[in-house]
Amino acid sequence: MEALRRLSRRLTVVREDERTRLSRALHDELGQMLTSLKLDLTWLAAEVTRREAHPPLPLINRLQSIVGLVDVTIGTVRRISRDLRPPVLDHLGLAEAIKWEATTFEARTGIRCRLNAPAREVPVAQDAATVLFRILQEALTNVARHSHAGAVRIELARGRRHLRLEVRDNGRGMTEAEAADPQGLGLLGMRERALSVGGEVKVHGAPGRGTVVTVRVPAGSTPAAGRKTDHPT
Ligand SMILES: Nc1ncnc2c1ncn2[C@@H]1O[C@H](COP(=O)(O)OP(=O)(O)OP(=O)(O)O)[C@@H](O)[C@H]1O
Ligand SMILES: [Mg+2]
Repeated sequence: MEALRRLSRRLTVVREDERTRLSRALHDELGQMLTSLKLDLTWLAAEVTRREAHPPLPLINRLQSIVGLVDVTIGTVRRISRDLRPPVLDHLGLAEAIKWEATTFEARTGIRCRLNAPAREVPVAQDAATVLFRILQEALTNVARHSHAGAVRIELARGRRHLRLEVRDNGRGMTEAEAADPQGLGLLGMRERALSVGGEVKVHGAPGRGTVVTVRVPAGSTPAAGRKTDHPT
């Protein structure tokens, strides 16, 4: 059992590294190529218009539609890369990343999202910050998929030894059976992730009165922001 747990922790780390690498490659390489492509196309369109007194309309239209398509593709690449590894998490820290996630969640789902977090960035080790962030994402995905909630409240609080993250919705409420014997891998993954940094997850649902997911991880002394520990050395 202990060996399995170690393996699962290791896999979590490997997966996170992999996502970071993939996210960078997408953003840097593909993103730059698409941008050059767009510049070339724009140049081409301008050149055609400049050279021909009456440039054929279908040609111009086609060029413009290709530029539009490239624009959409650039946006898609950005989004995928950001979803793989939100840059705010690495550069601005946990509280900011949570804020960003809450804003996008509300915009995407229409579920009202209130956030209560310390004004100043909390000290937390990078791996613990990643764990909290991924658990938040899974909890919010569950809210959107299962809860029928109209609102959700996220709270990040700093204790003396621990950081606590709470995600509370006002939906149908997860049953005890669902909490104990989950249908999917989500809850299981949350518990494993928390355990991997010496933390824990508690899930509590009250029928018709919503669900609360609480994560506690040891507070680190090193702030997650401003460092780039995700470069494998
Ligand atoms: N916020 C919530 N409100 C009500 N029910 C929930 C909530 N979150 C989870 N559940 C219930 O608990 C079950 C287990 O959740 P879990 O995240 O483990 O699995 P899943 O979301 O069904 O699948 P997966 O996460 O693997 O895609 C869900 O199927 C759902 O029935
Ligand atoms: Mg789930």
